[in-house]
Amino acid sequence: MTAVSILGFGGYVPDRVVTNDDWAELVDTSDEWITQRTGIKRRRFAADDESTADLATAAAGRAMTDAGLDPADIDEIIVATDTPEVYTPDTASFLQHRLGIGNVPAYDLGGSGCAGFVQALDVARARLALAPRRVLVVGVELISRLISWDDRSTAVLFGDGAGAVVLGPGDGKAELLDVVTGTDGSRTDILTLPTGGTKQPFNEATLAAGTHKLLIMNGREVFKEAVRRMSSAVQEVLQRIGRTTEEVSVVVPHQANRRIIDAVGQRLGIGADRVFVNVQEYGNTGSASVPLALWEAQDTGEIEDGDLVVLTAFGAGFHWAAAALQF
Ligand code: ACO
Repeated sequence: MTAVSILGFGGYVPDRVVTNDDWAELVDTSDEWITQRTGIKRRRFAADDESTADLATAAAGRAMTDAGLDPADIDEIIVATDTPEVYTPDTASFLQHRLGIGNVPAYDLGGSGCAGFVQALDVARARLALAPRRVLVVGVELISRLISWDDRSTAVLFGDGAGAVVLGPGDGKAELLDVVTGTDGSRTDILTLPTGGTKQPFNEATLAAGTHKLLIMNGREVFKEAVRRMSSAVQEVLQRIGRTTEEVSVVVPHQANRRIIDAVGQRLGIGADRVFVNVQEYGNTGSASVPLALWEAQDTGEIEDGDLVVLTAFGAGFHWAAAALQF
């Protein structure tokens, strides 16, 4: 199979910073509680006039510039998001038009929560295996606008942002060695926003009750599944490429919670100095979390040439995924 590489990285976060103290003025919480339980200190919220496609456009534009590519060079677009521009059509359509990319295939991978971006890498490399092409892969979320600000148990966890890569055949900045993904659909209940689909459509009653914005989360079960699945996904992808945890230079995990990240490192026997963390700055940015962290890690020199890097993520579904990259 032809080598598939990342040709360019990009990321974007909105300007507005929301601290834990800001949250403490809105709901019954504190900087101490949020810091101890999650490691989050602040997060970014989109401006009122920003929407998902704006965030995606900024990150994707940077990835294309980093790759030295023009819109005409992009052959396909995949956008991973759970917080799309509109209900239909998908965010990828808006992105294609905004960036002035040709009439290429463009589609969303939605609903897989924070695992979406790594799953999208798997889809992109399969498309590349069919025929050489350059695929723009974006993870983007504007969660602050779609979840309830009254529910302290979920609201304080999230932030808005976007990350992107361009994948292509041959040499690039990092070779995508392999990807593993999996799903346990028996666990849909532990993390779900059940209102708004066909089973429970929006109506006056859901609006009055505020359930259209209510993310239902069993925090402890999500925590346990996250640690178990992210760790085993890393082991599986390493096994497939014949490498070991000792050889891993940097793990870039989904940035949901510092304690989850630490537990994954401990389970894998990978020291904290080899695990990239920026959850304190941005909170959980869903599908954007892994590409945003990857962009920052390679941009700030945390990842260097020659490094073996493993991405790992989990999300509502319950989904998980891991990818191995050789820089
Ligand atoms: N401020 C203060 N108190 C709070 C807050 C808050 N923001 N939120 C909840 N509490 C309270 C609850 O009401 C509860 O109080 P009670 O015991 O009186 O009922 C108590 O804190 C909950 O305490 P614990 O259950 O011990 O909290 P825990 O240590 O489990 O931490 C947390 C909660 C942070 C949510 C943890 O379970 C967790 O991180 N789970 C994983 C969450 C996650 O990553 N979700 C993923 C989101 S989507 C994705 O990434 C795919």
